[in-house]
Amino acid sequence: MIKLNTIQQGDCLELIKKLPDASIDCIVADPPYFLGVTHNGQKGEYSDLVIMKPFFESLFFQMNRVLKKDGCLYLCCDFRTYPLLYHTAQEYMKIDNLLVWDKWHGRVQHYYWLSHELIMFHGKLKKCDISMKNVFTVKGFNSGATKTNGAKLHPTQKPVELFEKFILDSTSENNIVLDCFFGSGTTAIAAIKTNRNYIGFELQGKYCKIAQDRINRYRGEEKEIENYEQSQNLFFQQK
Ligand SMILES: C[S@@+](CC[C@H](N)C(=O)[O-])C[C@H]1O[C@@H](n2cnc3c(N)ncnc32)[C@H](O)[C@@H]1O
Repeated sequence: MIKLNTIQQGDCLELIKKLPDASIDCIVADPPYFLGVTHNGQKGEYSDLVIMKPFFESLFFQMNRVLKKDGCLYLCCDFRTYPLLYHTAQEYMKIDNLLVWDKWHGRVQHYYWLSHELIMFHGKLKKCDISMKNVFTVKGFNSGATKTNGAKLHPTQKPVELFEKFILDSTSENNIVLDCFFGSGTTAIAAIKTNRNYIGFELQGKYCKIAQDRINRYRGEEKEIENYEQSQNLFFQQK
């Protein structure tokens, strides 16, 4: 049994099997893009990604099993990984849309800036209004953000506002959000901020620790704000 609001260290393919059927309201998954896949020391090619197919087949099968009937899936990808992930996912669940996240910042290069990422979406949203366009801007980290200046804790960290948007768009308070590739725990911060529960799977011990420290820090800061607000109320009541 996996407890709510915990990080589990290990391979998500094994850990997800411990979750009951139809128990999760939303899955946010930001897998490695596997672009470092190399062949004999040479830079990898698209076809090399095929070695990832069995992994994602098992993962999509499990995701479909644990997701509630009215649950949603957000899966981050880019123009290179999308074709493989789309075809593999479609075997297990209907992919309903492809979201375009405009990161505002981008990597400057001679064949246009890399300033967006893609998110495959499965599910049906509870709300349906003009704010739900599938192209949206959320400021990402700029290329100067580093671990040492405190802005970034993980090389491919996503902004909290991005995952917060996904969670708010697709879940209600106290729902459960699963992140199979937890990294620095961005999903947990977004879930705590919006009064949802999270479950995080992360392979590397160092990121489990970084994420747990980040969550503890965030919860501490929240407590400080709460205490401050309470003391202000007391102050006004006493006046
Ligand atoms: C793209 S990063 C996620 C970054 C995260 N969204 C954040 O904002 O910090 C992917 C993470 O997945 C982890 N990972 C890779 N393979 C995994 C697996 N099979 N099971 C669980 N975690 C895995 C990596 O260690 C890495 O931290």
